[in-house]
Amino acid sequence: FEHRSQKGCLAGKKVVVTAGGTIERIDPVRYITNDSSGKMGVAFAAAAKDMGAEVTLVAANMQVPYPADVEVVKVQSAQEMYEAVHKLWPKTDIMVKAAAVADYRPAEAAKQKIKKKDDTFTLSLVKTIDILESLGKEKTHQYLIGFAAETNDVEFHAKGKLERKNADLIVANDVTKPGAGFGTDTNAVEIYDKHGLVKELAVISKDEVARQVFQIAISQMEGRE
Ligand code: CTP
Ligand code: CA
Repeated sequence: FEHRSQKGCLAGKKVVVTAGGTIERIDPVRYITNDSSGKMGVAFAAAAKDMGAEVTLVAANMQVPYPADVEVVKVQSAQEMYEAVHKLWPKTDIMVKAAAVADYRPAEAAKQKIKKKDDTFTLSLVKTIDILESLGKEKTHQYLIGFAAETNDVEFHAKGKLERKNADLIVANDVTKPGAGFGTDTNAVEIYDKHGLVKELAVISKDEVARQVFQIAISQMEGRE
């Protein structure tokens, strides 16, 4: 019954959630990725749906099933995710950037399988585009929620990311904490806006994290309407 009052509070809103970890190709049989399971993004998509939103999940290399009744756009690389979210952006009300996007990709993806030769092999990497930052630059009516995965100085890094990327909220977690981070069903997060810490949540389910974050987003959006 706890959630009954939340039903419908995102009615009429279009929510886009990115989830999973991007895949950056080295050659046709090899790639670089990360440990993101997609659980956090799935929890946000399911919570948004349950709260009455129209939801699109932009998913990269998911290790968990998709939630029911949610439109799914499958992508692989950071570049594909960038293109998918920018297509959706004009009609988005709330963007949740839960995906773990690769920071670097191979300078070029070889067309054919790379053959082994010398004793050492150097892979040249180039920076990917920062999707969250690019959305922050094109913000009009949208409410933009970013994440920060940190191992140290959480507050400092979260505030820096909020400002640099022009996000409305940053959901930050210390991935070294027990019960937080990749692959777990729970998370312990600190939520920041431009004024500083909004809320600190002890270890709770990712579903409950998502609901709490949406509650904050809704009340802030109402305040500026
Ligand atoms: N992000 C993004 N595009 C990238 C890298 C990150 O959109 N190329 C987004 C993530 O989806 C997340 C936020 O930026 O919402 C923060 O990601 P994080 O990896 O914590 O921060 P970075 O800015 O990449 O910095 P660093 O990894 O050095 O801490
Ligand atoms: Ca990063």
